[in-house]
Amino acid sequence: MSTTSASEGDSLPSERLLGKVALVTGGATGIGESVVRLFHKHGAKVCLVDIQDSTGVQVVESLGGDHNISYFHCDVTKEDDVSRAVDFTVEKYGTLDIMVNNAGVSGLPCNDIRKTDLAEFEKVFDINVKGVFLGMKHAARIMIPQKKGSIVSICSVASTLGGIGPHAYTGSKHAVLGLNKNVAAEMGLHGIRVNCVSPYAVATNLALAHLHEDERTEDAWVGFRNFIGKNANLQGIELTVDDVANAVLFLASDEARYISGVNLMVDGGFTSVNHSLRVFR
Ligand SMILES: NC(=O)c1ccc[n+]([C@@H]2O[C@H](COP(=O)([O-])OP(=O)(O)OC[C@H]3O[C@@H](n4cnc5c(N)ncnc54)[C@H](O)[C@@H]3O)[C@@H](O)[C@H]2O)c1
Repeated sequence: MSTTSASEGDSLPSERLLGKVALVTGGATGIGESVVRLFHKHGAKVCLVDIQDSTGVQVVESLGGDHNISYFHCDVTKEDDVSRAVDFTVEKYGTLDIMVNNAGVSGLPCNDIRKTDLAEFEKVFDINVKGVFLGMKHAARIMIPQKKGSIVSICSVASTLGGIGPHAYTGSKHAVLGLNKNVAAEMGLHGIRVNCVSPYAVATNLALAHLHEDERTEDAWVGFRNFIGKNANLQGIELTVDDVANAVLFLASDEARYISGVNLMVDGGFTSVNHSLRVFR
């Protein structure tokens, strides 16, 4: 009996998002920027939003500034901004098929809860949780009537493990995972898929956000990479923003047409193993 499907053996199309419209939050730098570039390469019409206006505009210009790519200012903690960004995308490109909730911050490190600054804690939750919720809410406004769509939120290995980030960051990423499951439960009725991508550490501005810009020296980046590499499960491969973007592309595309409610770990097994007993190391 043959177990091959009709499509088995076909290579992936070179434009996996052809004709789709996407909105990417925090798309000016890091993982978000890589998602924007990859989506554009795969034929999507992309609106990137951020609070770093000149950097966002530079990304658009570097892609030739064609009709299929635009920048819109949007602070994800402000409902009006998110609502206007979604409306801008729909007015410009006719619809919204893919919402990527990527904007996020790590917050300041603090290893003593008694010294945690509440304003700092609230800031992290505002961006990482409220921002994702607002992205889901306003994407749903467009996607529910059209009975299709894909929402992908960038979570973290800190969505399933404690002890690898500040309290606010870990709490916020656990909350994003909870939102992901609940919104997937509601949206299933409408044929809309809702998923998370959870990376291990990647060398972006967020990774060294606790340092002043002039302290983010070449040595600091080398130190970060060495530390992260040493503690990774998968050895000899460094996680890049493009690896994360590829996972987002998969979940956004029709190749993942029956995948919803998952937290896709892009972590080389980090959250599946525990090397502290040194059985294999
Ligand atoms: N870098 C890592 O190690 C890592 C690991 C796991 C998860 N993540 C997650 O990946 C996502 C992207 O982070 P990154 O590593 O690319 O960092 P980054 O700092 O390079 O990118 C974050 C982007 O979000 C934008 N942003 C911040 N606050 C915003 C707001 N209020 N409104 C709109 N945009 C805002 C920033 O301007 C920036 O362009 C975050 O959700 C982060 O938690 C990162």
